[in-house]
Amino acid sequence: MSRLADLIAQKPEITTVAVTDGQFGDTGKGKIVDELASGWAQFVVRANGGANAGHTIWVMGRKVVLHLIPAGILHPDVVNIIGTGVAFDPRAFSAELKALAEFGVPSTPLVSHCAKLVLPQHILMDRLREAGADGTLGTTGRGIGPCYTDHVGRCGLTVNDLSNPDELARKLRANLAEKMPFLREQDPEKIKAILGQEELGSGELFTPKPDSCFLDVDAIIAQYRQFENQITVANTDEIVRTARDEGARILLEGAQGLMLDLKHGRYPYVTCSDCTVDGLARGAGLSGEDVDLPLTIFKAPYMTCVGMGSFPTEIEDEVLAEEIRKRGNEYGATTGRPRRVGWFDLPLARYAHHCCKRRKPVVSHAIFTKLDVLTGFESIKICFEYEYEGPNYNVAGRWIRTGERLQTAIPDEFVLSQCQPIYKYFPGWKTSFSSAKTRKGLPWRLEEIIDVIAHESGFMPLAASVGPERDQTAILNELCI
Ligand code: IMP
Repeated sequence: MSRLADLIAQKPEITTVAVTDGQFGDTGKGKIVDELASGWAQFVVRANGGANAGHTIWVMGRKVVLHLIPAGILHPDVVNIIGTGVAFDPRAFSAELKALAEFGVPSTPLVSHCAKLVLPQHILMDRLREAGADGTLGTTGRGIGPCYTDHVGRCGLTVNDLSNPDELARKLRANLAEKMPFLREQDPEKIKAILGQEELGSGELFTPKPDSCFLDVDAIIAQYRQFENQITVANTDEIVRTARDEGARILLEGAQGLMLDLKHGRYPYVTCSDCTVDGLARGAGLSGEDVDLPLTIFKAPYMTCVGMGSFPTEIEDEVLAEEIRKRGNEYGATTGRPRRVGWFDLPLARYAHHCCKRRKPVVSHAIFTKLDVLTGFESIKICFEYEYEGPNYNVAGRWIRTGERLQTAIPDEFVLSQCQPIYKYFPGWKTSFSSAKTRKGLPWRLEEIIDVIAHESGFMPLAASVGPERDQTAILNELCI
C-alpha cells in the first residue's frame, strides 16, 4: 500500500475521493491517482475530458503515458471505468490499449455506454479551426470541443451507437450533414492533409467527393466498427452507484484543471468539459454530495500552462523558463508542446479555494507536486497579489479600477490579461529530498514556502510529491475531516 493510500485508509468513513487540479492542468494527477489505486481505491473512474489529457506515471524507471484510460489501470485488482462525462475516441483508446499491452498491462477499462463519441469530423474541425485565420485557442487538436458541442447541440453520438450499426450509420450521416456548411468552406487540400495523419487512419477516411465534404462515411463506419470488439461497454453509472451504495472505495480521476473548466475557468481559453469536483461526480454517475474527500492538486512553487490565454505569472525570461522546463520535463504529454512556465500564483490558488470550498469536509486538502524541480535555485518568487493595469472595467456590476490590487483572481480573460503580478521573494534550498517520507524530510526553507502557500490560499497541505516515481510522496499532515 502506498503512503498516500495508507493515509486515506485510516479514515474508513471516506469512500469516495475526487482528484482535481487547481491550476491549468498537468499538475501530476496521474501519479496521485496511481498511488491511491495502490492499496486504497477499488474503482477508478475517469469522469471528464478525453484524449486531450496526458497523465504520466513512472514505475521503476519506466514511463507510462495515459490519455483516456484511468491511471488505476496499472493495478489488476482495481476496476477502471471511463465514465459518462468523457469524450471517447475509439482510435485513441485502441492505441492506448496496445501501448499498455506492450508495457505488460493486459487489463481494459469498462466504458460508459453514454460516453460521448469523438468522430473523425470532430478532430478534423478542431484542427481546421486551429489552423484558421481567425485566431486560435491552442487546443490539443483531439476533437474535444466539437464533440462536446455536438452533445450540447443534441446531435452527438454516444458509445452505445457503436453497438447498433443501423443507428450508427443514420446518426453519423446526420451529424456529418450538420457539419457541411463549415466543411464546405474549407480548402480540400487541408482536409486531405489532416485526414492523411496517422491518428485519423492515414487517409483511409478521405474521399475526393466534395458533396460528402471529402469524408467517406462508409469508411468511418468500417473504421469505428473495427474498434467495437476492443471496447467493453457497460452501464457504468449504475455500476458506480451500486458500488457506492455497497461502501466500495471509489476514486474519481479528473482531467485538465479549474482554470480550464468550461464554466469557471478563464473562458474562452478553456476546454469543453467540467473539471470541478461536482463535474467529476456527475461524469461518473454520482452527485457532488457523494464525494467525501476532494483532493486539489497544485504544482509548486512554479506552475505551467499550455495553449493560449492569460497566464499572469508567466516567466518572461526565456532562459530561466527553459531551465525550469527542462528540469521539470515540461513538455505536453499529449502534444509534446513546450509548456509555458510561471511562478506560483496565490490569487489563482485563492480563487481555486473559493471554488473548491465545501461544507463537508470544511477543510480543503491540497497535494503539492514537482516540489523537487527547483532544488538549488537561489531564490523563489511567489505572486501574492495582482495590480490591475487596464482601463476601468466592469465585472458583475463592480468596477475594477486602474491600479487596483486584487488578492483573488477574477476568471475574466480581459482582467487577467491586464494584471501584473506582485511578488515576494523567498530564499531557495540546496539539499535534495527525493526520499522524504514526511514533513521532517523536507528542507526547512521549502517547508516555509509550503506553509506560506497554505496559509495564504486556505488549502491544507496533505502531501507533497518529491519525485516522479510511485510513492515518492511525503505526507505533510493528517486528514482533517
Ligand atoms: P482542448 O481541450 O483540446 O479543446 O484544448 C483547450 C485548452 O485546454 C487548450 O489551451 C489546451 O492546451 C488545454 N488543455 C487541454 N487538455 C489539457 C491537459 O490535459 N493539460 C493542460 N492543458 C490542456
